[in-house]
Amino acid sequence: MAREFTSVGVVGLGTMGAGIVEVFARNGIDVVAVEISEPALERGRANLTGSTDRAVAKGKLAPADRDALLGRVTFAVGLDALHSVDLVVEAVPEHLDLKQRIFAELDRVCKPEAILATNTSSLSVTEISVATTRPNQVIGIHFFNPAPVMKLVEVVRTVVTSADVVADVEALCARLGKVDVTINDRAGFIANALLFGYLNHAVAMFEAKYASREDIDAAMKLGCGLPMGPLALMDLIGVDTAYEILDTMYRRGGRDRRHAPVPLIKQMVTAGLLGRKSGRGFYTYERPGSPVVVPDEATPLAAEGAAADGARAIAKVGVVGSGTMATGIIEVFAKAGYEVISVTRGAEKSATVCEAVKTSLNKGVVRGKLSEEDRDGALGRVTWSATLDHLADVDLVVEAVVEELSVKKALFASLDEICKPGVVLATTTSSLPVIEVAMATQRPADVVGLHFFNPAPIMPLVEVVRTIRTSPETVATARAVCAALGKTAVVCGDRSGFIVNALLFPYLNDAVRMLEASYSTADDIDHAMKLGCGYPMGPFELLDVVGLDVSLAIQRELYLELREPGFAPAPLLEHLVTAGYLGRKTGRGFRDHTHR
Ligand SMILES: NC(=O)c1ccc[n+]([C@@H]2O[C@H](COP(=O)([O-])OP(=O)(O)OC[C@H]3O[C@@H](n4cnc5c(N)ncnc54)[C@H](O)[C@@H]3O)[C@@H](O)[C@H]2O)c1
Repeated sequence: MAREFTSVGVVGLGTMGAGIVEVFARNGIDVVAVEISEPALERGRANLTGSTDRAVAKGKLAPADRDALLGRVTFAVGLDALHSVDLVVEAVPEHLDLKQRIFAELDRVCKPEAILATNTSSLSVTEISVATTRPNQVIGIHFFNPAPVMKLVEVVRTVVTSADVVADVEALCARLGKVDVTINDRAGFIANALLFGYLNHAVAMFEAKYASREDIDAAMKLGCGLPMGPLALMDLIGVDTAYEILDTMYRRGGRDRRHAPVPLIKQMVTAGLLGRKSGRGFYTYERPGSPVVVPDEATPLAAEGAAADGARAIAKVGVVGSGTMATGIIEVFAKAGYEVISVTRGAEKSATVCEAVKTSLNKGVVRGKLSEEDRDGALGRVTWSATLDHLADVDLVVEAVVEELSVKKALFASLDEICKPGVVLATTTSSLPVIEVAMATQRPADVVGLHFFNPAPIMPLVEVVRTIRTSPETVATARAVCAALGKTAVVCGDRSGFIVNALLFPYLNDAVRMLEASYSTADDIDHAMKLGCGYPMGPFELLDVVGLDVSLAIQRELYLELREPGFAPAPLLEHLVTAGYLGRKTGRGFRDHTHR
């Protein structure tokens, strides 16, 4: 018989604690909500009522249910109020000594059979448990932010947590409508171990002025379908909490430099820029606790205004190449009303590309997304050619040939001879240095990266890559073109992986390392990232879709350029590629796709 939890205590009513109170009370459990002082208690109460009022306003909670929910909560200052609860969840700041003190006191105050749980994100549950005389009844219950919304709970058992306590807590999670993954006590558990290196890296990009906060966030949302960008997520987590988590993970997790908090984070904490809860972090909010971002001095001017700044007029576009990307890019430009000259290496290839563009446009017509007239108009704007000489009078060339530096350099040298002055020359490379192709011409100021995502007609993002020689006018032109294509442009420097791949692939590689270390299963890791962080796909699902060979190649490039030991490709990834398990395309990657 599973243990009955009729009343629980929550200690600390900040970002997480208030949400945890809401989860329990919503599910019919009485809650004793405890804070350190009267003012803190008032803030905690406001956190809870703010959240439930928003749920009512959004129609997600009936007013009567809200009242019943709030009626189940008793507020108190000090731990003494917890003497008769069945379970306590602690959610105070991420400091080991503080948590140990609280657990020692909880041990004295609470009834002997009560379970004591911590919501720590990174500290050792084992170290917290030994502050009590009942370490076998101490467990980690790690909720995700915002607790009422995120489905995942990581249940963390130590070597001494008794099996029935684990089973009771698992049953409780199910009752709360949560999905749990039960794991051992390791720094960052599953989700944070995979998330925080990525967050820290994103802050480092921002600190180095590699890209703006808006562009870093837009890149990850639009390029990977994440629910929010990394800097907005830092603000939601709390910059101080993120600092403590990184610091602990660095010390507990083998001193991986990628977890050493970027100096800017500490500076922000010192300056009181803690994120949403203080009204200002990477972004500025309407007021403390509000999710509404308001413009500040770092907010870029309206996109059109910025783009018009020195942008050159573009009417005629050359697209070189005959692969998937070239085909998609031709379609995108033609649909947006540009005159397009497609150049391939022969009439046969041109015919294939033409067919592919037609097929794709026809699909749009069948799905009701494009009229027959617009389809014919788009096709009518494309000229099919097999010679670069036809690019003599275009305004923009987009190169999308094979990903080999020598081929791209030779092509850019030819374009330099053929094209008129003032043309913007763009490469779609996803991994080669743009400056290398720029220097193959006599006009590096006019060369820029335009990194489209696959499939180009669908993906809303384009990374505009600026080299140290690219002129502001060229960048402005690239931005304006993207806007005219209905795409969101993000501008970044010329480093391996640009924004999206540099932030995405190390995370995927870390997931492979975690699997390799037998810490968890591919299914649980995928679950954790989908349900804990709202990712559209788990890392192993995504690796199988992208292709393990492609992922390995990108990861190698990142490692070679940045020489960061933590970026070294996971041996398991290399072995799977060697074995020919490349993902969906070969029927097997991390999973077997042949029987699905
Ligand atoms: N923020 C997140 O996204 C997130 C997600 C999951 C887990 N966590 C973990 O949850 C815990 C709490 O983090 P947070 O972000 O909610 O912090 P927070 O700073 O928002 O809230 C902490 C609260 O604890 C209260 N407190 C401090 N000392 C206390 C005491 N002695 N007795 C009672 N209350 C006390 C503070 O007044 C404050 O309201 C940390 O262990 C953190 O790692 C955070």
